[in-house]
Amino acid sequence: MAISEKARAAFLADVLSGLSAQPRTLPCKYFYDARGSALFEAICECPEYYLTRADLALHEQHAGAISQRVGPEAHIIEFGSGAGIKTRKLLASLERPRAYTPIEISTAALKVSARRLAADFPDIEIRPLQADYTRDIDADRLQLDPPSRRRVVYFPGSTIGNFDHAEAITFLQRMGRIARPEGAILIGVDLMKPESTLVAAYDDAAGITADFNRNLLTRMQTELGAKLECEAFTHQARFNSECSRIEMHLVANRGTRIEIGGQCFDFSEGDSIHTESSHKYSVDDFRALAAQAGLKSVQVWKDADGLFSMHWLKQAAA
Ligand code: AVI
Repeated sequence: MAISEKARAAFLADVLSGLSAQPRTLPCKYFYDARGSALFEAICECPEYYLTRADLALHEQHAGAISQRVGPEAHIIEFGSGAGIKTRKLLASLERPRAYTPIEISTAALKVSARRLAADFPDIEIRPLQADYTRDIDADRLQLDPPSRRRVVYFPGSTIGNFDHAEAITFLQRMGRIARPEGAILIGVDLMKPESTLVAAYDDAAGITADFNRNLLTRMQTELGAKLECEAFTHQARFNSECSRIEMHLVANRGTRIEIGGQCFDFSEGDSIHTESSHKYSVDDFRALAAQAGLKSVQVWKDADGLFSMHWLKQAAA
């Protein structure tokens, strides 16, 4: 599907500024065109990518306790399209949920998931909202009439790990404002684990994550008219212990050049473009991060293998 002229201009501007920076970067949000989203779904099925299975196991194991925390007649607001199986598990476990709002930038993804959810949960008011949840959201668009007893902002899957700490704090503050003092945030957070486990999870043997990473280059060719040699870049997953994160890079395996938007970017062998960070947290590390956003982690659930966590956050002053 072709992107709009506005989206194309924003993509080009981000690529030019990322490639001009030192170290060179590309924003990970551009992974997710139709092909990238399909590749991400395939990653979730990879034996090495423990994260999705652990998140799902946590939802299954703790559905009762989570439902008790949420309470009756809540308005669930998900940052994401709500197409996932975890959303269904959550909604099915709740006591008389009042309404469900998935917030998603892609109208097409939102429509499909809202239609399916409305068919499967006829007693829940499904109120999709087309918006970019990484920006401020007009609170009026979330208002129910009469107002709900409580809003719960739901963000499974550990996408919070893809933000650097300053961005994560801003993002948590935004969620807190949406939840309001009487509400709460239910957020998935991947836990720190040994380097070898993380490197394998982000560099699977079947090469699906490598294709996912290189899809950025393909998008630059097809959507921005970039001249580049895809095969001159190798996918690499690097553990950065100082920053507690796994990073994805595209590393030049020979001297090569990217020509884009009237500019040239030269690479020597070994030069990299940093395309994604996935921060991993201990329970205490994430508590400390939430505290910086004025939030208190009131309860934490983990899956049975201790791989993944879910925090129940409330405003610290509430
Ligand atoms: C979406 N996000 C939580 C994934 C992650 O694990 O950071 C994206 C991903 N990147 C490589 N594999 C999966």
